[in-house]
Amino acid sequence: MTVTDMFRLDGKVVVVTGASSGLGVAFAEAFAQAGADVVLGARRADRLAETARLVEAAGRKALVVQTDVSDPDSCTNIVALAVEELGHVDVLVNNAGIGTAVPSTRETPEQFRGVVDVNLHGCYWMAQACGRVMEPGSSIINISSVLGITTAGLPQAAYAASKAGLLGLTRDLAQQWTGRKGIRVNAIAPGFFDTEMTEQYPPGYLESREDRIPMSRKGDPAELAAAAVFLASPAGGYITGQTLVVDGGMTIT
Ligand SMILES: NC(=O)c1ccc[n+]([C@@H]2O[C@H](COP(=O)([O-])OP(=O)(O)OC[C@H]3O[C@@H](n4cnc5c(N)ncnc54)[C@H](OP(=O)(O)O)[C@@H]3O)[C@@H](O)[C@H]2O)c1
Repeated sequence: MTVTDMFRLDGKVVVVTGASSGLGVAFAEAFAQAGADVVLGARRADRLAETARLVEAAGRKALVVQTDVSDPDSCTNIVALAVEELGHVDVLVNNAGIGTAVPSTRETPEQFRGVVDVNLHGCYWMAQACGRVMEPGSSIINISSVLGITTAGLPQAAYAASKAGLLGLTRDLAQQWTGRKGIRVNAIAPGFFDTEMTEQYPPGYLESREDRIPMSRKGDPAELAAAAVFLASPAGGYITGQTLVVDGGMTIT
């Protein structure tokens, strides 16, 4: 195997949650380009169908499964359909997430729980469903955030707590499953990337953060997707339990 072959995922099946917009679309397209069939999960089926067309344009199969990751049965369902239709699940990209910014004195229990239910619990239900069927050599990638490691000026207790919790989940699943089941579990902590999530930020907020980023720019989703392909492929074969920060250097400042 040459070094470039080590980044290929030919014949693999990758489940991407949150594949209806933003980074999830970039993950789906990149994994298809690396040779994998892609199972696309999110609540908006019409938008998943658009992502499916990108996967098919890269010459791979796409399976659309309307999914709400906050519902454990919905997570079991997408994984069962993936196995039924495509035979196996080799990679899970736990990407579905919601972002909020609410001052903590005003945040309601429902608001806080709603974020944790999707960003942390949802990743766990998906990992459990995949962990039950994955064969040795498989891998799980949890999409955390730099907000799991540092602060960035907005009141984001629920989001930051959910993303920091995901780093603990990553470590624990890696120690449970890497040795016993041959499943590597890693996290990616993205910095700032233009998506529907960042459109909700106050005008000028993202630009005001660029002074803190040594690379002085937001990331390109393709740069993040390439990091995910690396972690999932044989190129990342000796990496488990780790968090790969893809932030243009923001967290060193
Ligand atoms: N953009 C950034 O700068 C940035 C930085 C750090 C981390 N992240 C993380 O990257 C991930 C992707 O975010 P994004 O920036 O691409 O935002 P986005 O465009 O808003 O995408 C979020 C995705 O999550 C899905 N989703 C939300 N709730 C869901 C649920 N209950 N069940 C299933 N899917 C659900 C959405 O699909 P439906 O609405 O169709 O369900 C959508 O596809 C998130 O985990 C986010 O926290 C993003």
